[in-house]
Amino acid sequence: MPKFFVTTPIYYINDIPHIGHTCTTVAADVLARLHRQLGDEVFFLTGTDEHGQKVAECAQKVNLDAQTYCDKIAPTFVNAWKNLNISNDFFIRTTDIRHEKVVAEFLNKIKENGDVYKDKYEGWYCVGCEKFMTETDLVEGHCPLHPPEKTVKKSEENWFFKLSKYVPKLIELIENDDTNYIFPQGKRAEVLAKLKGGVNDISLSRENVEWGIPVPWDTKQTVYVWFDALINYYSATQFLENKANFWPASLHLLGKEILWFHTVIWQAMLLSAKIEIPIKTFTHSFYMVDGQKMSKSLGNVISPQQLIDLFGVDGSRYLIARSFPGENDSDVGIARFKEKYNADLANNLGNLVSRVCKLADKLQTSNFKLQMDRKYIELVDNLKLDEAISLVFAKFIDESNNQLNIVAPWKLEPNDPKRIEVLTKCVNNLRQAAYYLTPIMPDTCEKITKALEGEIKPLEQGLFLRIS
Ligand code: MSP
Repeated sequence: MPKFFVTTPIYYINDIPHIGHTCTTVAADVLARLHRQLGDEVFFLTGTDEHGQKVAECAQKVNLDAQTYCDKIAPTFVNAWKNLNISNDFFIRTTDIRHEKVVAEFLNKIKENGDVYKDKYEGWYCVGCEKFMTETDLVEGHCPLHPPEKTVKKSEENWFFKLSKYVPKLIELIENDDTNYIFPQGKRAEVLAKLKGGVNDISLSRENVEWGIPVPWDTKQTVYVWFDALINYYSATQFLENKANFWPASLHLLGKEILWFHTVIWQAMLLSAKIEIPIKTFTHSFYMVDGQKMSKSLGNVISPQQLIDLFGVDGSRYLIARSFPGENDSDVGIARFKEKYNADLANNLGNLVSRVCKLADKLQTSNFKLQMDRKYIELVDNLKLDEAISLVFAKFIDESNNQLNIVAPWKLEPNDPKRIEVLTKCVNNLRQAAYYLTPIMPDTCEKITKALEGEIKPLEQGLFLRIS
């Protein structure tokens, strides 16, 4: 049975879940569910990134010790995903002692292979990104993604990782179509250009950051939070039972701001530890909210619960998938979501299912072989979720609406063969659409499938209520 191992980034728990985290998680869930439907053996991993300076500072602000703080916030992510019907097979927390053990073993391997040395780091650090920054990364003297006070000057003794040693190998892997792991293509070119521009070695440990995993050979230092976090993808396959054969990961899904960590640093760490590298990484763009970057200070942060309250679980999943920011940023907002929900789900799909069930009352349907078109699978695999959904709407839903308008079965007698023929066609179209859309709206599609089994009866309740 083919194996499919898909991951999301593990989210920092200095924040509670918002629609940005939600979009990566829903997309990973759609892929996991589709691959299960296709008969693959799936392992879907998500979780929280709990160590480091940023989390420690947050805990301090609310007067909690770091572990208590993490134990309090981690469930908000677990519950958010539960409420959205996310089918992750495991939720990893980097404070899990089993993960910490794998991190220590991993670092020992890198050291044994001669890729670690001690040096002094002098330069900038963005606490918001938990990232060592070069002068060229800064815009107007600070990290462009975070407020100026988050960029601080550091001078510390660190253990360094020989990242530069792996640059030629990485270039070779990425340039070859058979071994390239960076998608979409634009990101591949971006990473190659940066690799060819010259790369320095990086710190793998921090001095004076207590909230982290101790460096196994120097317990005065803690493991740099990104080394700790990236290893989660591998550690889960090692400490969980019967998951080892899921490595290497089939797909790491991530947002564009963490491209370098996932396509260069992580791969070099694995090469150094002599562990197979992941097959594919897919880097998506960002959600903008009503044309602006989402931020607490602008007060435009949308939470997954806000969506669920308005659009229900499947409505929210649909809207996220429909607006998924692939190669370009995607502008979203509650008003736009309402419009889309009403147009696609309440007025179109939902209405069609109600009409067909009413018109086809007592129609006895026969077996119908469901099929999954390669093109659809390819679109979903390449995160072209909007196109994939459009394909299903055009082929089955718009087609059924057209047929109904042409034949007008409501004007024909119940046993008129033309009426039976068009309604049978619509029923089969809807069954087929539900089959395709199951990974996106699992519960709704199950309802549609059940309503169209055996003898058809009018629906007791519409699938999607119109929202004003
Ligand atoms: N902890 C690190 C990741 C470590 S992975 C080994 C981290 N966490 S995060 O909480 O900041 O989450 C970042 C991820 O959340 C992005 O890569 C993306 O998947 C998602 N998003 C956060 N904001 C987003 C948008 N505005 N739009 C779309 N996705 C965004 O980085």
